[in-house]
Amino acid sequence: MKLGRNDICWCGSGKKYKSCHLMMDEKLEQMKLKGFKIPTKKMIKTPLQIEGIREASRINTMVLDYITPYVKEGVSTEELDKLIYDYTKSINAVPACLGYEGYPKSVCISVNDVVCHGIPSADTILKDGDIVNIDCTTMYNGFFGDSSRMFMIGNVDPVWEKLVNDTKKALDLGVEACKPYCTIGDIGYAINSFAKEQGYSVVREIGGHGVGLAIHEDPYVSHIGLPGKDYVIAPGMTFTIEPMINLGAPDIYQDAEDGWTIYTEDGSPSAQWEYTLLMTEKGVEILAQ
Ligand code: MF3
Ligand code: CO
Ligand code: CO
Repeated sequence: MKLGRNDICWCGSGKKYKSCHLMMDEKLEQMKLKGFKIPTKKMIKTPLQIEGIREASRINTMVLDYITPYVKEGVSTEELDKLIYDYTKSINAVPACLGYEGYPKSVCISVNDVVCHGIPSADTILKDGDIVNIDCTTMYNGFFGDSSRMFMIGNVDPVWEKLVNDTKKALDLGVEACKPYCTIGDIGYAINSFAKEQGYSVVREIGGHGVGLAIHEDPYVSHIGLPGKDYVIAPGMTFTIEPMINLGAPDIYQDAEDGWTIYTEDGSPSAQWEYTLLMTEKGVEILAQ
């Protein structure tokens, strides 16, 4: 079962094992002996898969760039959804959320106390002071990229504006914590420590995830965590970081009627930013933003 140094690598690169993944496998084996939780082979993408995921992520970023000028007071979230659907189709890509586990729209648009998975609606019209998350996942050539951004409509309460900007900072701190062979716990620890310092709370039940060959893959990426705990992040892993941070308490609930929309329990506003990332031997790379 064990590959010889001169055998062809398991990753599909066509290279000899010794000049491909041998060093990484040895390093992970050593870490396993020290008690670290090692990723499965399925969590590690091949060079060809990585190229596909990079391209899908680039297109996902283009979709968010495209929608940006339309995110204005008076527009309904359904209109934004339609624009994203049409644009995505026009570039031969697929809005991956549409039909995913029965999800009815092309993107998630979450306003104010909606934490995530807000369903675009003709009744949700953006108004002065709103903070809005647009979360987009695109499939291209069978590969997936996933990212989200916040938008502020008109005059936003400075406390809410700070929440939006600090949540971006929390994402960036999570990215900074992402060193080769670090753990998922390192990311969550960086994000949660900062959020707590600023007096916010981090949503615990929903987090980031592996992404690339499907919308949601293992591992789960918690935004709370402890240094050195949870899976090691090895080169070749593609995953999201997407902290949801609440101005008030961390508790959330799901809309019983639509089965999707997640709200803060206390009605306080919530912000979220998301990147798709690739770990390499040299460090982390942002694929979709
Ligand atoms: N883009 C979301 C994420 O970051 C996925 C939403 S799935 C949907 O994980 F069905 F709600 F659209
Ligand atoms: Co997303
Ligand atoms: Co995601």
